[in-house]
Amino acid sequence: IEKDIAIAIDGPAAAGKSTVAKNVADDLHYIYIDTGAMYRSLTYEVIKQGVSTSKEEEVLQVLLNTEIMLHNENNQQVVTVNNENITEEIRKEEVTNAVSEIASFPSVRIEMVKRQQKLALMRGVVMDGRDIGTHVIPDAEVKVFLIASVEERAQRRHKENKEKGFPSDLEAIKRDIALRDKMDSERQTSPLKKAEDAIEIDTTSMTINDVTKQILNLVQAYKEA
Ligand code: CDP
Ligand code: CDP
Repeated sequence: IEKDIAIAIDGPAAAGKSTVAKNVADDLHYIYIDTGAMYRSLTYEVIKQGVSTSKEEEVLQVLLNTEIMLHNENNQQVVTVNNENITEEIRKEEVTNAVSEIASFPSVRIEMVKRQQKLALMRGVVMDGRDIGTHVIPDAEVKVFLIASVEERAQRRHKENKEKGFPSDLEAIKRDIALRDKMDSERQTSPLKKAEDAIEIDTTSMTINDVTKQILNLVQAYKEA
């Protein structure tokens, strides 16, 4: 009998993690868990409640009173907090600009990681984020670290915005990505970092399909080993 495994996908902003993770999960009939959406949901709720995004204690209290749920509807990820559908809201600039500060609070990370580890107990899971291979599922059977140049990543987000009909400023996206990369890599608690046993894939000139296939090959190789 084939054993279901955990696949950890980490990397900087717009490296293609969520798109590729979702494809891999679909192919294997696994569950996909977007941990970035969890930090974004908390950020949304903090802003909505008028709590200062720089007060760790108060942000933690909001988290402890907030149920964040991720589920699939018609192949689309739906995110709810306390039963309110906030799938679209969490992608807004206001949330994006504040999320890395909130994600830097150690007490917030402890609670988030606890929730994520509970979700990862069921194997047959693809989880993406910044610290999945290093902290959330250090025993994941397959670990991938996706990278791409800042220029390429900004272009991808820019294109995505234009396709959705959203206003988009390439230079502003570049600044946001560079700033979040810096905050995520330099924070004290579980910074963005490649796990020692993760396979790094530079996706700068790869298609989504290429990256998906390469990860599925790694999974196949693990299962055959
Ligand atoms: O999709 P994008 O790369 O823009 O970001 P995301 O994956 O939605 O994550 C948003 C932010 O949440 C990141 O910039 C990190 O600050 C934080 N995050 C984190 O600290 N740890 C995770 N496991 C996932 C996200
Ligand atoms: O989750 P993360 O922030 O790492 O990235 P994403 O939201 O999955 O991908 C950002 C954008 O880049 C999406 O519009 C993808 O379709 C696109 N992308 C791409 O053009 N080529 C790749 N190899 C991967 C993603």
